[in-house]
Amino acid sequence: MLEIVGRSPLSGHVKIGGAKNAALVLMAGALLCSDVCRLKNVPALADVTKMSDILAALGVRIQQAGDVIDIDARDINTTRAPYEMVSQMRASFFAIGPLLARCGVAEMPLPGGCAIGARPVDLHVRGLQTLGAEVTIESGVVHAAVPGNRRLQGAAIHLDYPSVGATETLMMAATLAEGETTLHNAAQEPEVVDLANFCRAMGARIEGAGTNTIRIVGVDRLHGVDYDVVPDRIEAGTFLLAGAIARSEVSLSPVVPEHLAAVIAKLREVGCTVVSDTPNSLRVLAADRLTGVDIQTQPYPGFPTDLQSPFMSLLTICEGSSVVEETVFENRLQHVAELQRMGANIRVKGNVAVIEGVPMLSGAPVEATDLRASAALAIAGLAANGTTILQNLKHMDRGYDNFVGKMQALGAKIVRKQLDS
Ligand code: EPZ
Repeated sequence: MLEIVGRSPLSGHVKIGGAKNAALVLMAGALLCSDVCRLKNVPALADVTKMSDILAALGVRIQQAGDVIDIDARDINTTRAPYEMVSQMRASFFAIGPLLARCGVAEMPLPGGCAIGARPVDLHVRGLQTLGAEVTIESGVVHAAVPGNRRLQGAAIHLDYPSVGATETLMMAATLAEGETTLHNAAQEPEVVDLANFCRAMGARIEGAGTNTIRIVGVDRLHGVDYDVVPDRIEAGTFLLAGAIARSEVSLSPVVPEHLAAVIAKLREVGCTVVSDTPNSLRVLAADRLTGVDIQTQPYPGFPTDLQSPFMSLLTICEGSSVVEETVFENRLQHVAELQRMGANIRVKGNVAVIEGVPMLSGAPVEATDLRASAALAIAGLAANGTTILQNLKHMDRGYDNFVGKMQALGAKIVRKQLDS
């Protein structure tokens, strides 16, 4: 558990790691070729280790040295991922697209739901069927196969929702399909663009990533590549919010400022100063007077759902009212109850939280409910009077690389005790 003594100012510079939500899908993307792919700037996360284990279970050879991972998918010896591994981490479902495209068959356990929602994969399944795969779901396993062991056939796919995962699964599958695929209403997240750039470096023909229409022309084979993972915009946003809530000045790099445009706009609306001293850095400076703002989470380039809870921590001490609406996931307001224990004044109705700013939070024992809520509660502790005890750190270890060490380097009074809780 974490023990955070609040109200100590922060200062300094944070190094931002590679994006978790890019690294995981790039690792799956390496299955598309029978060469070695070298990923660099890979964050040291529990989820990355889990993804390595799942790939190894498929027969892939993995070597990791620091933030560099070599993935050799030359000899895939099974197309069935182990149930117990996939059910622990949704991102492993991403392997279904590359496996199907490369081997003509794939068996992936349905990823379990998690705290924030049911996490269905119907858009992935329907898209693969449109590409010519026969997909059935039996006792929790998705069986996908291309009839007659032919290649997937390119097609026009209209996504009901701009799902990040479905866009990534289908884009990867289409790189080796026969003919042209167009993904309409595609997700535009920077991690989707990173995956497209990775696949193009492998020889794939992809246009339009980053817009809502992605066009892929299938090729016969892809080749190995060296690739740097894009900086983690969610980790960067989390540290900007830590600087703001501690009413301090914090800078960070590397980052692509444009990836955080919606968050920077809201920080400025609250009253913070946010500047880019160099093209790949950001600096936040909190004003004495912070005022509440309204937030609605949306697919990129809208306000990111992954920074909803950390931003809400800041809003609890901003003057006036704020309205936060979570539109992406059906159950991502569980951190509210924990913030209330710290003295926040929040009312929830459905997916909408109304926050009345209070002058000060007070430290309390709180429980992390999901990956981003753990960061939200940790930064709330930075601003609270007294000591906050944060339990259930397994979530934090999944998505933040050395969060405590980076916070301590900024001057936060935060220590980790009982390592496993
Ligand atoms: C990715 O999840 C990220 N995870 C999430 O980050 C992120 O919150 C999310 O995108 C939205 O940005 C990874 O990249 C590993 P979606 P993903 O498919 O792909 C519904 C974090 O904290 N949906 O865009 O699962 C779904 O239920 C994690 O780092 C369907 O209905 O997100 C949700 O309501 C959390 N059917 C909405 O779409 C489908 O087939 C958005 O989900 C797929 C999704």
